[in-house]
Amino acid sequence: MRTTVILLPLLLCSIFLLRTFKTATELSTTAAGTAAATISNQTHQIKDFATALKNGCNLFHGRWVLDDPRSRPMYTEESCPYLTRQVTCTRNGRPDSLYQQWRWKPHACDLPNFEASMLLHSLRNKRLMFVGDSIQRTQWESMVCLVQSVVPDASKLVYKAPPRKVFVAKEFNASIEFYWAPFIVESNSDHATKHRIQKRVVRLDGIANHSRHWEGVDVLVFESYVWWMNQPLINATTGSCEIKEYNVPTAYRLALQTWTRWIESTLNPQTQKAFFVSLSPTHLWSWEWRPGSKGNCHNETNPIKRRFWGAGSSQDMMKVAEDAISGMKRINVTFLNITQLSEYRKDGHTSIFTERRGKILTREQKAEANMYADCIHWCLPGVPDTWNEILYAYILYDHRRDG
Ligand SMILES: *[C@@H]1O[C@H](CO)[C@@H](O)[C@H](O)[C@H]1NC(C)=O
Ligand SMILES: *[C@@H]1O[C@H](CO)[C@@H](O)[C@H](O)[C@H]1NC(C)=O
Ligand SMILES: *[C@@H]1O[C@H](CO)[C@@H](O)[C@H](O)[C@H]1NC(C)=O
Ligand SMILES: *[C@@H]1O[C@H](CO)[C@@H](O)[C@H](O)[C@H]1NC(C)=O
Ligand SMILES: *[C@@H]1O[C@H](CO)[C@@H](O)[C@H](O)[C@H]1NC(C)=O
Ligand SMILES: *[C@@H]1O[C@H](CO)[C@@H](O)[C@H](O)[C@H]1NC(C)=O
Ligand SMILES: *[C@@H]1O[C@H](CO)[C@@H](O)[C@H](O)[C@H]1NC(C)=O
Repeated sequence: MRTTVILLPLLLCSIFLLRTFKTATELSTTAAGTAAATISNQTHQIKDFATALKNGCNLFHGRWVLDDPRSRPMYTEESCPYLTRQVTCTRNGRPDSLYQQWRWKPHACDLPNFEASMLLHSLRNKRLMFVGDSIQRTQWESMVCLVQSVVPDASKLVYKAPPRKVFVAKEFNASIEFYWAPFIVESNSDHATKHRIQKRVVRLDGIANHSRHWEGVDVLVFESYVWWMNQPLINATTGSCEIKEYNVPTAYRLALQTWTRWIESTLNPQTQKAFFVSLSPTHLWSWEWRPGSKGNCHNETNPIKRRFWGAGSSQDMMKVAEDAISGMKRINVTFLNITQLSEYRKDGHTSIFTERRGKILTREQKAEANMYADCIHWCLPGVPDTWNEILYAYILYDHRRDG
């Protein structure tokens, strides 16, 4: 019953989308036919997805399977003009490319195929914003690359408005934005480029300087983890109290309380939607998956095939985030539980094929992978595309439900 009610709006927007397709780009009859088939297929896929969710499919329980080489990677370094040098591993010298070929397959259901025009349609006159640190910036870059190819050059752009980076699809009056806030709450690391890792101080009860930029945003996607994890203690303040050292999970809990208070008091559950992305795992110690070895993620070319959870992924911190989210009453924040699926992907990191302080690693640095490999950030195309495929499924699912 409910299914029919919620399907109708999607059908209507499909027809509408088809019309825009035709008029805007004057597609040939065959191409329009293909577009119609795609939309109809997508409508089916989203319907199946909705049913699966209702039947309790856990999207985050699954495995990585090699995809058809015609459908993945979903974009390339060449086809996406917006990728930063930090993530373009192939261009930076990475010799293997299998890491771009894996698709996430939940055990109990299928993720719908990512269709950029469907997403842009559901974001018409809307803003989608990713808030967090550099991991979240990569997810933003991935999302921009996933959608940009269907927008003609003349009607898209990326601009910087620190601490934001904004992609605009003018035809759709839609924006996909990134907002730098590595702790979500205020800190002395909030400058978009001039921030020091050392001497960080977090304002556990201060969020207004950021949150006024989040007001009215239709879809908000939050993430914050790795900046907390430098040491077991972190310097922080609350109110006008002086700076003192807090145990990290305690500080994280207080910060997320500040955040949930803002969410609960500000978001309109009818028109706005919020997500929280669980922690992104690191692969700093190869002995964790290959006992006896002394390396890190460097030279890894395949996912881990057995159960795996690395020591860098703090269960305590996960629990703090899960509790903060499940404790909310007025607003449902969707927890994108990507930690486990990303744990398997020791092959997905930028390693030595990245930049450091704005420069590509030198030959000498590359020779010292144990010292210089980055096993925190991810190559694109790559693992963050999957996080976005899951986010995509939820956004279309909500769009369909809301009509
Ligand atoms: C939709 O597309 C997928 C992948 O392209 C294909 O496997 C599936 O059979 C299609 N489904 C329908 C109902 O056409
Ligand atoms: C364009 O989108 C913004 C929100 O991103 C909205 O406030 C504005 O009303 C939209 N413009 C039109 C003409 O619909
Ligand atoms: C927040 O904004 C206020 C007023 O502009 C400013 O005094 C304060 O220093 C800011 N806090 C942080 C942490 O930047
Ligand atoms: C906190 O700040 C003090 C004073 O700058 C410093 O000595 C201490 O090492 C800092 N603690 C941490 C955990 O960074
Ligand atoms: C990585 O692989 C290359 C080529 O096979 C090899 O020369 C190098 O020693 C390996 N590096 C590490 C850190 O294992
Ligand atoms: C939150 O989700 C639960 C379970 O799906 C639902 O019962 C509840 O009505 C939702 N609350 C709001 C405020 O949307
Ligand atoms: C997230 O995934 C982890 C690992 O599979 C699991 O232990 C945890 O319960 C999940 N959290 C939620 C809120 O589903």
